[in-house]
Amino acid sequence: MNQPAPFFLDCDTGIDDALALAYLLATPRAELVGIGTVSGNISAAGGARNTLDLLKLAGHPDIPVAVGAHDPQVGTFHGGAPHVHGDNGIGGVDLEPSDREPVEGTAAELLVELARKHAGELRVVAIGPLTNIAEALRLEPNLPALVAELTIMGGAALAPGNITPVAEANIANDPEAAAEVLAADWDVTLVPLDVTMTNVLEESHRQELLASDHAVSQALGEMLGYYFGFYVDIFGRACSAMHDPLAAAIAVRGVELAVAPKVRVQVDTTGGPGRGQTVCDLRGQYVGFPDQRGARCRVVLSIGEEFAPHLLGTMQAAWLSEDEVMRTSASPGL
Ligand code: BDR
Ligand code: CA
Repeated sequence: MNQPAPFFLDCDTGIDDALALAYLLATPRAELVGIGTVSGNISAAGGARNTLDLLKLAGHPDIPVAVGAHDPQVGTFHGGAPHVHGDNGIGGVDLEPSDREPVEGTAAELLVELARKHAGELRVVAIGPLTNIAEALRLEPNLPALVAELTIMGGAALAPGNITPVAEANIANDPEAAAEVLAADWDVTLVPLDVTMTNVLEESHRQELLASDHAVSQALGEMLGYYFGFYVDIFGRACSAMHDPLAAAIAVRGVELAVAPKVRVQVDTTGGPGRGQTVCDLRGQYVGFPDQRGARCRVVLSIGEEFAPHLLGTMQAAWLSEDEVMRTSASPGL
């Protein structure tokens, strides 16, 4: 990817969603052309407000944001995850409110519109429950041919779940939608807990963000204070998993993959204890993961480098050069 590729982000903003958004705005490999929101960490409407406020803070007021599904395909929205992401979804941090409204139409409609506009080029990164993506597939059955790539943060292959013993939150919050999306006629990259729980952001990284003179970095550092509080009980120290930004970085090919076999993946949609589990056929590991015939899902189990320096470095590089540009243009005679 030498030229920035057009990207659509579907999210439930969310602290780690905010990090993914900041990363996608910063990386020169992506041009964010649209954002949809879905209920997950917070309601779809609340996620859209957070997204609009973050875009304002980041100086990207023109990217369209559409509110997507409030409820999953089966049942109703459970109310979010305030214990993980705070009551407002972004760790209680008060951002200056954007005066922009979400665009008319649903997130699924915006995705379909952009997929048609950027036919064969649009990359989709889904970092919330997959309700909007499934709805878009029903609106436009040709969506798999229009979309160049789909990267999903979700699932757990060999790792335990994070919302039930076997299920990860994004998949468990709408297993029927996830099953539909993973069964569609496209290649998918799945970024499960196996890799997002083993690449963490430490307190020293958070301090780096807080020390930055860029407003988005500072806001992210503050949000992470709340997120780290949730993860103390899980990791035994102040740090956090990096689910969504890692999926974003994998989608733009910003990090090297280490173990990422292409295998069959099914989602458990039963009502039993396995509901929401991503059943990944990893039996081939004993002979080095030969690609399975007909398998469409690349499951990222590990990456080949440390992620936190890449994440922070990408944001610093983008925002430092913006500051430099401003300083240069403000200096007479230069
Ligand atoms: C996923 O669930 C949400 O809480 C996070 O934002 C991430 O997308 C991790 O299971
Ligand atoms: Ca998310």
